Amino acid sequence: MTDSPPIDRALQAPGATASVATPYRTHTCGQLRATDAGASARLAGWVHRRRDHGHLVFLDLRDRYGITQVVVNEDEAPRAHKVASRTRSEFVVTAEGTVAARLPGTENDRLATGAIELRTTDLQILSESKTPPFYINEPDAPIDESLRLKYRYLDLRREPMQQRLLLRGRLVQAIREVHHAHAFVEVETPDLIKSTPEGARDFIVPSRLQPGSVYALPQSPQQLKQLLMVAGMDRYFQIARCFRDEDLRGDRQPEFTQLDLEMSFVDEAAVMAFVEQMAIEVSAAAVPDRPLQAAPFPRFTYAEAMERFGTDKPDVRFGMELIDLGPALERSGGSAASGFRVFDDALAAGGRVMAVVAPRMADATRSRIDELVDQARRFGAKGLAHVAVNSSGTPSSPIAKFLGEESIGAIVSVSGAEAGDLVLMVADTPPIALDVLGHLRTELATRLQLADPNVLAYCWVHRFPMYQWDAELGRWDATHNPFSGVLPEDEPLLATLSGDSMRPSPDDPAGRARAMQYDLVLNGWELGGGSVRIHRRDLLEQSFALQGHSLEAMQEKFGALMRAFEYGAPPHGGIAIGIDRWAALLAHQDNIREVMAFPKTQSGSDLMLEAPSPPDPGQWAELGLRFVGASGERNR
Ligand code: AMO
Ligand code: AMP
Repeated sequence: MTDSPPIDRALQAPGATASVATPYRTHTCGQLRATDAGASARLAGWVHRRRDHGHLVFLDLRDRYGITQVVVNEDEAPRAHKVASRTRSEFVVTAEGTVAARLPGTENDRLATGAIELRTTDLQILSESKTPPFYINEPDAPIDESLRLKYRYLDLRREPMQQRLLLRGRLVQAIREVHHAHAFVEVETPDLIKSTPEGARDFIVPSRLQPGSVYALPQSPQQLKQLLMVAGMDRYFQIARCFRDEDLRGDRQPEFTQLDLEMSFVDEAAVMAFVEQMAIEVSAAAVPDRPLQAAPFPRFTYAEAMERFGTDKPDVRFGMELIDLGPALERSGGSAASGFRVFDDALAAGGRVMAVVAPRMADATRSRIDELVDQARRFGAKGLAHVAVNSSGTPSSPIAKFLGEESIGAIVSVSGAEAGDLVLMVADTPPIALDVLGHLRTELATRLQLADPNVLAYCWVHRFPMYQWDAELGRWDATHNPFSGVLPEDEPLLATLSGDSMRPSPDDPAGRARAMQYDLVLNGWELGGGSVRIHRRDLLEQSFALQGHSLEAMQEKFGALMRAFEYGAPPHGGIAIGIDRWAALLAHQDNIREVMAFPKTQSGSDLMLEAPSPPDPGQWAELGLRFVGASGERNR
C-alpha cells in the first residue's frame, strides 16, 4: 500500500461544485468513491509514485484534488501496460478505465479515494519529466531552500505547499466575501504613483515619456484610499500589492500583500469593531478547526502593553506578565534601598527593577542560567539577576547576600513565584528593562512550550504615542503614520506649537499626545495597523509642522491629499492587515515565504526568474539612463 499522506480531503476546494470534465479527464484524482464502482472514468495528473510488479503496474496519480491508484494489467491492457512501464515520477498522463472496489485488505484509509482504484484500459503520456531535483512525494524530506526557490513550480507541487496556497486562497476568498457582505466596495489603485512613505525606501520606476522623472511603487495605498473617502466611496477595500525596499526578515518581503481598507464617518471604536468582526468571520472560514482564545479581542493601550508584556505585539496565549519589583523593594529595604546596589542605583536614577517568573525552571543548570544572562545582554541588559524557589518553597539567589531575607521575601511574594519557579530580574532604564524582559518572556515561553500552537490569540494595542523625539534631527517624528489623528482629548497638547513658535523641542507637550492608532496582533505578530485620520487641512498642516516639514515640502509630497481636504473630506479611518503574515500564522509557519507562491530571497532575488537582472542596453538608452556603479562602472 502507498504511504502517501492523507492529502485528498484537505485539498478539496470547499464549495467548488463545477465539473472538471474535458477530453483529458472526467473526474479529478480526489473524486472517485466506492459508490462509483463499475463506472468508467478518465483521470489526468502527475505520476506521484509508480510501483512495477511485472505484469501489474500501479501508478498513484496526483492532481490538486488528491491521489487515485491506477492499475495497469498486462493481460487486460497490453498497450497501456507498455506505456505504464515507460512512465516515471512526475510524468503527466491521462488514464481511462473502470472504477473498481479494491480487494478487501488493500484499501487505503489515508486516501479519500482509498476504497477504489482505476483499472486502466488506456494510458497516454501527455508530457515527460526529468528526474526532479528533490522529492515531490516526500512531504517531510528536508530540501535546500535555494533549490526550492529555483524550482518553485516543483516545490509548489509538494503537498505542504499545495495546502498552504489553498489556505491562502481560502483566506482571501473569505476576506472578499465578508467585506462585500458589509457594504465595502473593492477598488483597485495604481502601482505607478508618487512616493507614499511608510517608513521604508521606495522602489522607483523611470519614466520613458518623461525622461529624468520616476514613478514610485506604493509602499501602501494610504493616500489613494484616503482620496477615495474624499471621493465618497464610504467603505473601500483592496487586496493590495505593496512594495518596500527594506531589509528582509522572516516576516518581511520587498513585495507583499495587504488587505487595505478605509471607512468614512467612523471613530476608533467603529473601525476596531468592524475589523474584529471581520477577523473572527474570516478565521472561522479559513481555519474552522482553530479556536479563538478570546472574543471580543483583549485591548491594551500601548502603555499597558509595554508595562505588562514589554512589547507592543504581545503573545497573549500565555501569562508570564512582567512584574514591577520597584515599590516592594523600596519598602522592604526600609530606607528606600533593597541592599543590592545595582537595583538601588537603577531605582534612584528613575529606572525600573522588573521581573518575569519562569515556571518550573528553579533547577535550571548554571550553564542554562548563563545562557539566559547572555541572551539578556544581547537584548541590551547590563545583567540578569535571579531568585530560584526550590521544590519546598525556599528561595535562594547568588545575590541573597546583598538583598537580605526581607527583600528576597518581597521579590517572591510580589512576583507570585511558586515552588519550582525561577524569578528573573533586570534593573535598568524603563525602556530597556521592559524590552529585555519582553524578549525573555517570549523566548522562555517558546522553550517551555507555554503557548498552545493551535489557538488564535488576537488582541488590539492602541493609543500609541503620536510622536517620538528624533534627537539627531531635532524634531518630532510620527511613530506610525503621519496622517493619524490624535485622540480628541489630547488635541490641546498640539496647540502649544501652532502660531509663531514652530521650533519643536523634546519638552513639547505634543510628546504626550496619543494617536488614534491601533494595531491588530495575532500570537505575538503585528498583523495590521491603522488609524483614524486627520481629515482637516489645518490639523494636517499642524501635524506635519511638528515633524519639521515646511509647507512647501508638504505640498510637494502630499499635495493631492492636502488639496482634496479643501473640498469636503469626511471623517475617516482604516487599517491594513498583512495577508502574508496572516496566512503564515494560520498555516503554522514562521516565515511568510512559506505562504507566498513566488517569494524573494534575503537579498531580494527571485532565483527562479533570475531577477533582478541588468536591463538590456536598448532599455537604458530609451530611458535616457546610464549606470554608474560605485566604482564608476558604466552601462553593461
Ligand atoms: P503598516 O506599515 O503598519 O501600515 O503595514 C500594515 C501591515 O502590512 C504588513 N507589512 C508587511 N508584510 C510583509 N512584508 C513587509 N515588508 C511588510 N510591511 C508591512 C504587516 C503590517 O502590519 N498604510 C498603513 C495602514 C493604515 O494606516 O491603514 C500601513 O501600511 O502585517
Ligand atoms: P555583578 O555585581 O555585576 O557581578 O552582578 C551580580 C549579579 O547581578 C549578576 O548575576 C548579574 O548578572 C546581576 N546584574 C548585574 N547588573 C544587573 C542589572 N542591571 N539588572 C539585573 N541584574 C544585574
